Amino acid sequence: MCGIVGFVGEEQAAPVLLDGLARLEYRGYDSAGLAVLDREKGLQMVKSKGRLKVLSDMVDGGKTLSGTLGVGHTRWATHGEPSDTNAHPHLSNSGRIAVVHNGIIENYMEIKEFLQGQGVTFHSDTDTEVVAQLLDYYYQGDIVEATFKVIHRIEGSYALGILCADAPDQLVAARKDGPLVLGYGDGCNFTASDVTALIKYTKTVSYMEDGELAILTREGIQVYNDLNQPVEKERSTVDWDISDAEKGGYEHFMFKEIMEQPEAYRKAAFPRIRGDRVELEDLNLEDDFIRQLDRLYIVACGSSYHVGVVGKYLLERMLRRPVEVLLASEFRYADPIVDEKSLVVVISQSGETLDTMAALREARQLGARTLAIVNVMGSSIAKEADSVLYTWAGPEIAVATTKAYSTQLAVLTLLGLHFARVMDTMSQREIGEILEQMRLIPAKMEEILSHTEEIQYFASQYFNHESIFFIGRNLDYAMGLEGSLKLKEISYIHSEAYAAGELKHGTISLIEPGTLVVALATYAPLFDKAISNVVEVKSRGATVLGVTTESKREEMAKHSDSLIVIPDTHPMLLPSLAVVPLQLFAYYVALQRGCDIDKPRNLAKSVTVE
Ligand code: M6R
Repeated sequence: MCGIVGFVGEEQAAPVLLDGLARLEYRGYDSAGLAVLDREKGLQMVKSKGRLKVLSDMVDGGKTLSGTLGVGHTRWATHGEPSDTNAHPHLSNSGRIAVVHNGIIENYMEIKEFLQGQGVTFHSDTDTEVVAQLLDYYYQGDIVEATFKVIHRIEGSYALGILCADAPDQLVAARKDGPLVLGYGDGCNFTASDVTALIKYTKTVSYMEDGELAILTREGIQVYNDLNQPVEKERSTVDWDISDAEKGGYEHFMFKEIMEQPEAYRKAAFPRIRGDRVELEDLNLEDDFIRQLDRLYIVACGSSYHVGVVGKYLLERMLRRPVEVLLASEFRYADPIVDEKSLVVVISQSGETLDTMAALREARQLGARTLAIVNVMGSSIAKEADSVLYTWAGPEIAVATTKAYSTQLAVLTLLGLHFARVMDTMSQREIGEILEQMRLIPAKMEEILSHTEEIQYFASQYFNHESIFFIGRNLDYAMGLEGSLKLKEISYIHSEAYAAGELKHGTISLIEPGTLVVALATYAPLFDKAISNVVEVKSRGATVLGVTTESKREEMAKHSDSLIVIPDTHPMLLPSLAVVPLQLFAYYVALQRGCDIDKPRNLAKSVTVE
């Protein structure tokens, strides 16, 4: 989704803004722009459809734009096609106010009609332009006052960066339901959609809250709440480095992040394992509340939802209570049956996914307790949930999530084991055994990652298939969902995941000679049933890429054209290992097809619109 960077300091702003925008590229975008304010030259604006490189070339890496104050933007089109005109910043008709925006102004048509009635002409198809023109309308010499008026009039979601030619030393930022972080430098200050854009310059940050407005100058940042009262922001220090958000010699962020999984798993899980117990110090749910739960809800989108699907199988087995896993975009409109006795667990890497955020709010409004499993510190979901368990995976840049998935799964498993102890649904011995096996997961991931060439070879055999099916039962079905999503999102191959037992109810009609079926059969209790389904597709001519465990290698090899083998582990932990080759397979297939792996078409890393 859109990315915003704002800078005020002593050095030339444009190169800093371009550098920040480059670090936000992963969020997904189709056009980009800059506005820079120079005391002599006034407001200068450059924008362009397409990649950031086009914009950067237009201004020679920023050198041709003078001025030490500015805003930059990468746009992911919602209202109006990707074009130079619709790209941000948007300039008011007076030419004195420039605006960048992330979010959607829901009542923009009403405001547009009102302003048109006042004789204002519009130049773009965007909802954002109404903000620029409305600022002009309210402006009477004080841009902060005008901004307050505007944010009280607009409805919807916004993160805004505003420059006014009459205020050449200040940048105004405001947010509601759209992320904005403030960065405190030495003689310079920043705002950005996320920390990645400014960490090269400062690690001291604070996170803006809904309804807040910030005035950034070289000397400092003053924040006001929606009642126009000054707010003292709590500052925090980012605990990762710029190198974590760089490729570090890898060709793609996705590959780097796949390779980082063993370490990410260690960081997410090990500090929470104490002997044969789980310690979730950051969980503020009383044991009595946990014990009275007669059902749990897990709500998320995309891959985070797939973690929830695995979680349903795991937690139902651990807790002997029903677990409902729901897509956030469905939950929020489903009139969900939750109340103050319910726990709704939301899962989100970014902590900014709008549907997940809305589901969280819906759950809270209905009185439910909410627990968020989130990666990005200080993100909106982390701030609003009653309780937060961070996944500590570090920055994830590739649109296709990998290490966030693995760490979410680790944290959800630990949550299940903690609940099982409190609810007394598993023996201490069983819990201890799983924890012991969890400690071995990173090393087993490393073992899988030391044989990437095998998966690369399979990808080279199968990359030109146009349709690929993933089948499996139980946890293997849940893994198939993720394997299939990973493949389709980065390689653009049509792919579906099916519960293997469902094949006969329709899907098997799609199997014809040569159709590639990725058959997951890691879960030992259902291995024989899975093999029956493999035999069914093979007898209709399918080519089978099998995935199984070391102990089932021989049996699975008899039924597979190619075989991926993962180490054995406790059955409940198999997904943590099985996901790794599926990620690698998707990666290598996309590589063979020459796809833009880190920035797949039409996708954004953090989906902050509905
Ligand atoms: O940041 P979130 O975890 O809330 O994001 C949810 C989905 O948008 C995300 O998992 C998406 O499906 C990924 N691109 C999949 O790789």
